[in-house]
Amino acid sequence: MTDIEYLKKYYQKDNLDDAVKRLKQGEPVQYIVGEVDFYGNKIIVNKNVLIPRFETEELVSKTIVYLKKYFTNPITIVDLGCGSGCIAITIKKQIPKNEVIAVDISSDALEVAKENALINGVEIEFLLGDMLKPINKKVDCIISNPPYIGYDEEVMEIVKDNEPNIALYAPNNGLKHYEIILKNAKSYLNNEYLIAFEIGYKQANDICKIAKRYLKNSIITVEQDLQGKDRYIFITNIKNHIL
Ligand SMILES: C[S@@+](CC[C@H](N)C(=O)[O-])C[C@H]1O[C@@H](n2cnc3c(N)ncnc32)[C@H](O)[C@@H]1O
Repeated sequence: MTDIEYLKKYYQKDNLDDAVKRLKQGEPVQYIVGEVDFYGNKIIVNKNVLIPRFETEELVSKTIVYLKKYFTNPITIVDLGCGSGCIAITIKKQIPKNEVIAVDISSDALEVAKENALINGVEIEFLLGDMLKPINKKVDCIISNPPYIGYDEEVMEIVKDNEPNIALYAPNNGLKHYEIILKNAKSYLNNEYLIAFEIGYKQANDICKIAKRYLKNSIITVEQDLQGKDRYIFITNIKNHIL
């Protein structure tokens, strides 16, 4: 479906002209419409949050399989850099017995995430702050799609001109947040844990090295997205972790 066909689904003739004008001015169709479908859930989006990507749906889908397989009792999951809340909300809807916490450093993003939790009828604890810092309890699973684009990487104009910089870029070739999360994870994790990351497709080796440095006896697996690119890293100490 083209972007114009997509707009026609949402707008009557009068408003359509205005929407098409915004599209021609380079605004992403998702911000114009104001919502996306993520894993069958309606997620409101605006310029304060990253537009959820298909790759992230796959991260969620893979993580849900592991969570159901490894944790039969209720657990606590934290989504670091929750943006619109798409990851946290989907996991809570799929496995309601689990407690889900969602953190973001942007209060504007958290407002959107809270509204999304409300319209999706799920209870999530939202915390404002810097990655793991606002967490005051042990958790069983950390999931994150942090900002991972290096400052000198090429980025499509529609992305860099519209989506929040704070959701896109990170220092140290985009590795900063992975390093900080992995360095501190041990203090926040229960005995048996799962860490699930979405990553830039060239970052797998670097992140595996960091994970080995800080989580010595863990099992680290890299998985690919639908395009065959390295896109996910799962880190666990659950011994029967097999793919
Ligand atoms: C790539 S976006 C991911 C958003 C959402 N989880 C998704 O997958 O669509 C990264 C998010 O991390 C947030 N963020 C950036 N730096 C952060 C930090 N130091 N602590 C917590 N959140 C941060 C941004 O505000 C943004 O919402």
